[in-house]
Amino acid sequence: MANPVFHRPQLADQMVRGLMASAVGSATASGLFLAAPRRTGKSTFVREDLRPALQTAGAIVMYVDLWANKQTDPETVIVAAVRAELSKHDGVVARLAKSAGLEKVAVGGVAFSLDRIGLGKEVSLSWALTALSDETKKPIVLLIDEAQHAITTEAGYDALFALKAARDELNSSEHHGLRIVAIGSNRDKLAMLRNSKDQAFFGAPLVSFPTLGQDYIEWFCEGVGLAGPLNPADVMKLFERASFRPEIIGAAADALRFDFGLDPADVGASFAKAVGEQIEEADVQTLRVIHALTPLQSAVLRVLAFEGDKYAPFETSTMESYRAVLESIAPDGTVTPEVSNVQQALIALQDKSLVWKEKRGVYSLEESTTAELLREYGLLDVCAAPRA
Ligand SMILES: Nc1ncnc2c1ncn2[C@@H]1O[C@H](COP(=O)(O)OP(=O)(O)O)[C@@H](O)[C@H]1O
Ligand SMILES: [Mg+2]
Repeated sequence: MANPVFHRPQLADQMVRGLMASAVGSATASGLFLAAPRRTGKSTFVREDLRPALQTAGAIVMYVDLWANKQTDPETVIVAAVRAELSKHDGVVARLAKSAGLEKVAVGGVAFSLDRIGLGKEVSLSWALTALSDETKKPIVLLIDEAQHAITTEAGYDALFALKAARDELNSSEHHGLRIVAIGSNRDKLAMLRNSKDQAFFGAPLVSFPTLGQDYIEWFCEGVGLAGPLNPADVMKLFERASFRPEIIGAAADALRFDFGLDPADVGASFAKAVGEQIEEADVQTLRVIHALTPLQSAVLRVLAFEGDKYAPFETSTMESYRAVLESIAPDGTVTPEVSNVQQALIALQDKSLVWKEKRGVYSLEESTTAELLREYGLLDVCAAPRA
């Protein structure tokens, strides 16, 4: 049984209107960026509310999650989504077959293989999307979830440039428009996709995706079905403490659901306690991963978290910081930080989804909340110590 979803139709409608409008002076045609912290309901909203609302408004909608399979190159994921959409429209496939010079063999497009579409292939993404637009006469919207992942590979970068070309073409008066919505959990990373003129989304608006609010909490309290009622105002405060993550309050409710001896009058207090435990449990899970790191990996992670966007992995002063941290966390250790083993440590941290690396060498924490967690549990104290 699927978990019930709290729908946000007004928010979806507002976004649809903003996206579809071609207002004078608006840069929305460049795309739109939606940012909010992890686990706060972005993907759920995009899949459950935004996608259907766009379809109702007459758009062709493609949704890709660049994290669905982290091993697959972002470019491959994007191209696969475009091919899958094209395959639903016989007319488009026939059109592409024709334009690729296959009209003699193609009957209903069967002779045309969709493998021919992609970066560096006979049929470019731009070409394919233009055919789709012309055939269907509908605007196309591409929703890219975990979009920051696109710039972790060279092919991902290329895919973004290909999409920019497609967008420029489709947004000209001859076609029916292409809008690209990039969704991600980190503003700074998303901003890297749009800040410089050579970027595919230069100038696109970056919007803070609103977290779930009071109306969601009322819906939750109404439907939660515990032994006694929950007070929405109290739960709202707990939800804030949980950084607006529905899973935390959901797990707290689950913990009480099977407590058969619970007095209905105690439900509120027990729920508050359970939420606290769930917040802690989420932290403990991340900390477990961090405690299992090698001393060097741990030192690199801490220095990165401590320095934030000033972090320069291989500079002499940074090497010095790793050394200082290593000395205090593993005084008997024999490892000396060098460019090569720091590089390896960074790769290991990426594999563990703790660190994110932009293709061209900018590093940051995969989740910015990791820095707060490390600080809160005193793991950054070693970095703050004045250097000898
Ligand atoms: N509108 C909603 N109604 C009910 N539960 C939700 C809603 N949005 C999110 N959730 C819950 O929170 C979890 C995290 O949401 P998700 O959309 O994956 O977050 P994000 O994409 O921001 O990381 C989901 O698995 C779901 O259980
Ligand atoms: Mg998501």
